[in-house]
Amino acid sequence: MGRRNKPPRLPGGNFAAWNRDRLALARRGADECGDVWQMEPGVYVTATAGLCEEVLHRAQDFAKGPSPLFPPLKRSGGAPAPEERAHAHAARMRGLRPQAVAARIGEIAPGTARCVDQWPTGQDIEILPPVRHALEEIGVRYLFSEDAPTLLPFASRLFLAREVLVRPSRWVWPRWVPTPARRFRTRQQIAFTHALRPIVRRRRSSGHLGDDVLGQMLRPSSGYGLLPEEAILDSLPGITVATFETPSRAAGWILLHLARYPEAADRVAAEAALLPADPAATTSTHLESLHYTRAVVREVLRLHPPSWLLTRHTARPTRLADYTIDAGSTVLVCPYTAHRDAREHSEPDRFQPERWLDESGSPAKPGAFLSFGTGPHGCEGAALAMAMLTLLTAQTARRHHVSEPPGPEPSYRLTTFGGLATDGLRLRATLRS
Ligand code: HEM
Repeated sequence: MGRRNKPPRLPGGNFAAWNRDRLALARRGADECGDVWQMEPGVYVTATAGLCEEVLHRAQDFAKGPSPLFPPLKRSGGAPAPEERAHAHAARMRGLRPQAVAARIGEIAPGTARCVDQWPTGQDIEILPPVRHALEEIGVRYLFSEDAPTLLPFASRLFLAREVLVRPSRWVWPRWVPTPARRFRTRQQIAFTHALRPIVRRRRSSGHLGDDVLGQMLRPSSGYGLLPEEAILDSLPGITVATFETPSRAAGWILLHLARYPEAADRVAAEAALLPADPAATTSTHLESLHYTRAVVREVLRLHPPSWLLTRHTARPTRLADYTIDAGSTVLVCPYTAHRDAREHSEPDRFQPERWLDESGSPAKPGAFLSFGTGPHGCEGAALAMAMLTLLTAQTARRHHVSEPPGPEPSYRLTTFGGLATDGLRLRATLRS
């Protein structure tokens, strides 16, 4: 076999540049090297939509590693078999698919409305903690309905454990080293599991399984039968945090854009005037009518995909475009650069929600949108996330003008580690007259 072709390597000390400014390096790699480039030996980045999609769809060749955040607890005998994983995924999706979310809009809207109503006006406040708290309540309620109050305190601590784990540190410890952060994570996971187990047993023994996501996981399926209790308990810590963690990062970017683009905010407010005064009366038909608001959410997610870099691994030499990727390589899929490719989106750095609408104002698909990933590991909660974020955006603009604090200081710190986020974001709400 002849010499194998490698993707072009970006010259320079990329590791240091990566630590300094990850977004800038991702853009430089795409600009100077093209669709797929090499950052370090054995570390490749796919920068354009077509190749990102290809890697995410070819899950056999480009494998997603096990979730490092909440690995199965030791007592459960390790990672589930593929068949069990597929069944757990299918069971969760029965509760998370668009039709299931649509049926529960009247439960979600009061939570987002409460968050907006409680936003103190006339002062600059750090907005992400209350928003995260509100989304956490909505997410936990969505998963566990009337059992949510029991699990809510544990969910907050799972989130905290995750925050500590993803904090940048000087050393990358091998997975098996029980660092203080990992021990804290395990303790929180055990506490959550202890709180959840009696709920699972009570629902199973009473036969009242519930219509929420947990209820769907407790139902037997014709092909597979019952999911083992441990499989349910192991998968729910990660799902629970997922319901509010990335959505609250996205919410930060959206609120910032309402502050920076008052005309867009006015247009959202006009659309949101059609929502019922009682948020519990909101239905999927109301939500679907918020075309412009949804376009704003999608446009913000395009420009600032919270999960801006997804990781895959190759187990054997694998062809990608005209290249061969060695076995044991890491392939980083970059929705951020894919979304800012002028071949996909005209004037890609411009905030332009209208690009998601056709001339009649109906939803359109102008180009790549990878903020929720794609393929077999695409986001399970995309419909829930879009519902929460669209409602939060509409209700915020209907009630408030949002502004950034005046002065030379930026209103947030950009972070790229563990997700693209507006850390410490400070904003001011003023009641719309
Ligand atoms: C704006 C909000 C959200 C964004 C931007 C987002 C983004 C993503 C992305 C990009 C992936 C693919 C990861 C990969 O391929 O490596 C993913 C996976 C996932 N998301 Fe989300 N997500 C959001 C909200 C949610 C919510 C509300 C849930 C609630 C259940 C959720 C549950 C999941 C799960 C379980 C996976 C893993 C799927 C798998 O590995 O098979 N996400 N998400």
